Amino acid sequence: MTETDAVVLPTERPAPLDPPTELAELRETRSIARLAYADGHLGWLVTSHALVREVMADPRFSVRPELRHRPIELPGQPDPQPAQPGMFLGMDPPGHTRYRRLLTGEFTVRRMGLLAERIEEITRGCLDAMERQGGPVDLVEAFAEPIPAAVIGELLGVPEQEFKQAQEHFVKIIRREGTAEDMLAAYKATLALIQELIGAKRAAPTDDVLSGLTRSDLTDEELANIGFLLLGAGLDTTANMLALGTFALLDRPGQIPALLSAPDQAVEELLRYLSITPFLIRTALEDVELGGELVRAGETVTLSIAAANRDPDRFPAPDALDLSRSGSTHLGFGHGVHQCLGQQLARVELRVALPALFTRFPSLRLAVAPGQVPVRPIEMLIHGLLSLPVTWGQEDPR
Ligand code: HEM
Repeated sequence: MTETDAVVLPTERPAPLDPPTELAELRETRSIARLAYADGHLGWLVTSHALVREVMADPRFSVRPELRHRPIELPGQPDPQPAQPGMFLGMDPPGHTRYRRLLTGEFTVRRMGLLAERIEEITRGCLDAMERQGGPVDLVEAFAEPIPAAVIGELLGVPEQEFKQAQEHFVKIIRREGTAEDMLAAYKATLALIQELIGAKRAAPTDDVLSGLTRSDLTDEELANIGFLLLGAGLDTTANMLALGTFALLDRPGQIPALLSAPDQAVEELLRYLSITPFLIRTALEDVELGGELVRAGETVTLSIAAANRDPDRFPAPDALDLSRSGSTHLGFGHGVHQCLGQQLARVELRVALPALFTRFPSLRLAVAPGQVPVRPIEMLIHGLLSLPVTWGQEDPR
């Protein structure tokens, strides 16, 4: 294979819920292909389920940000820097292992299960407010964002006032508003806020994740970065699943009974189908044979989760949303040592909130034409909707 065979990462979606068409063609013909990166680096793009999974399980591939090249341009964003102490998402073992061990105990299936009742209450509060307000409403603002926000705020033990401030800063970071300096300022302000909170938790610990972590040997700097990572992950993941998931079900209402009768299974299918983290990035630490190609040390590999989750070798009729599909092996939460720490939390949130929405508002429908629902730009990295105008009841405003 020569440099002239290199592709650029396809990013144009034919429809909001479908990955770029070229990904399927690549997966079929060369599931590991040469990829031209935004800075001119020549690396790789992997599109099959088997190969994506293989890379994520292989310690010869690193997550360290400073080693990677970007598959797409992110204008105004500084070059990726080495992970700060505590930012374990950007660390390889054994550094990663220590943090991950400390946190696993805070995010167990059992603890997340205990949260279900509280999530139900929070969801009910949002649905009550929607009902009082009356349609049309923006479902992102009224439902998809506030539920995971309230949950992560309570789980971490962030008081309401501080949480509001942190959220304002995060919106700038998530929406990539303003210049690189603005984003850095928002990051520093959030970190300062968390640092202050950690001081308070050390002095008077309560029954929350941050208090729990102050009992470990982590430094204040490590704790603040962990707090930042968890808060960010809590705010900008499940919210997108709730918005896109609702959009998908409004488009295919025949699937709603399957959601209501078996929410656990339905949520796994939505995670597969929607792949809100469309791609992940790794860099080879040494030469590695992968799918018949030689990936050289230092080359960056982009893993298309969106393509892997629609691989016909793994999922029959992969482009059909089928909420009764069982035994899913989707890669929506990643795989290997970095597999999503918050997955049980996200699952409980989705299993509670989506059925509650469709039970409360059986006549829920879009308040605009489907083509007018604004989709997040690729630069926001996590797939989602900017807003989702919906309404319900008898009259149709269209
Ligand atoms: C890691 C997806 C919700 C916290 C990951 C990864 C994926 C992912 C794909 C792996 C990244 C990689 O390998 O490079 C999702 C999706 C979610 C979700 C689709 C919602 C539906 C959450 C929530 C939290 C969270 C609610 C909150 C605590 C994390 C953390 C990591 C992670 C801390 C890093 C784990 C590590 O490096 O060991 N997530 N996530 N996620 N996620 Fe999630």
